Amino acid sequence: MYIVLLGAPGAGKGTQAELLREKLAIPSVSSGDLFRSAIEAGTELGVKAKEYIDRGELVPDGVTIAMVAERLAQPDCTEGVILDGFPRTVAQAEALDGVLAEMNRRVHAVLYIKVSEDVLLKRLAGRWTCRDCGAIYHEVFGPEKTRGVCDACGGALYQREDDTPETQQRRIAVYLDRTAPLQECYRAKGILIEIDGDQDVDVVHRSVMAAIDSLEGNDTL
Ligand code: AP5
Ligand code: MG
Ligand code: ZN
Repeated sequence: MYIVLLGAPGAGKGTQAELLREKLAIPSVSSGDLFRSAIEAGTELGVKAKEYIDRGELVPDGVTIAMVAERLAQPDCTEGVILDGFPRTVAQAEALDGVLAEMNRRVHAVLYIKVSEDVLLKRLAGRWTCRDCGAIYHEVFGPEKTRGVCDACGGALYQREDDTPETQQRRIAVYLDRTAPLQECYRAKGILIEIDGDQDVDVVHRSVMAAIDSLEGNDTL
């Protein structure tokens, strides 16, 4: 099953992607994580992407599409993928359809995690991420057991460089301008499912699973 998680910065895409990955046993592919790995590795792609990410702007479609297409071509992606943060523009959505069509696959559902803007900012402000395994915590809504140490792997937690107040605001504005139009595109295709993301992580997860179960009852998958 190929599922897209759509939602503003801080909506909980990464958090829900990880829970889904465990449940569905298919990989989750986060364009943001792929860029952060490239930055860490100091590749040419990483250097280019960093300029945009630091400003809260989208990385240009060409490099983004090529990076995700390369990931989707890997053997673990043949049975399904949870896409977190891709597509984010109409051009990316069209490119994704093309890549999946070549694999004789398609997007089954787009789960739009809807969260109000004041909640988004509170979530981003308190987020801590594990440098080693990428686990996501929140200092109020979901703290780690030992301060600064990942529960899952013992790695050190850090705050993302693009989580400054100015960049957060810019990312939300860019989302509204460039990515929110995808809601209507996917609604028109009949594959958009709206999830109330303004609730606790486990409540949102249950809504996500209910949406997926309703798809599994549908034998056109
Ligand atoms: P990316 O890494 O995708 O960042 P983003 O879209 O800004 O989203 P976030 O990762 O900030 O939020 P999230 O929805 O994953 O929330 P999370 O689960 O962490 O992209 C970063 C940058 O890379 C972009 O700005 C762009 O420059 C570039 N980029 C990436 N993809 C691109 C693309 N396709 N095209 C072009 N450029 C691209 O949760 C947030 C916090 O809230 C956490 O602390 C978590 O613990 C907490 N939380 C989560 N759910 C709940 C809940 N239900 N209740 C309470 N707390 C919760
Ligand atoms: Mg994320
Ligand atoms: Zn960890």
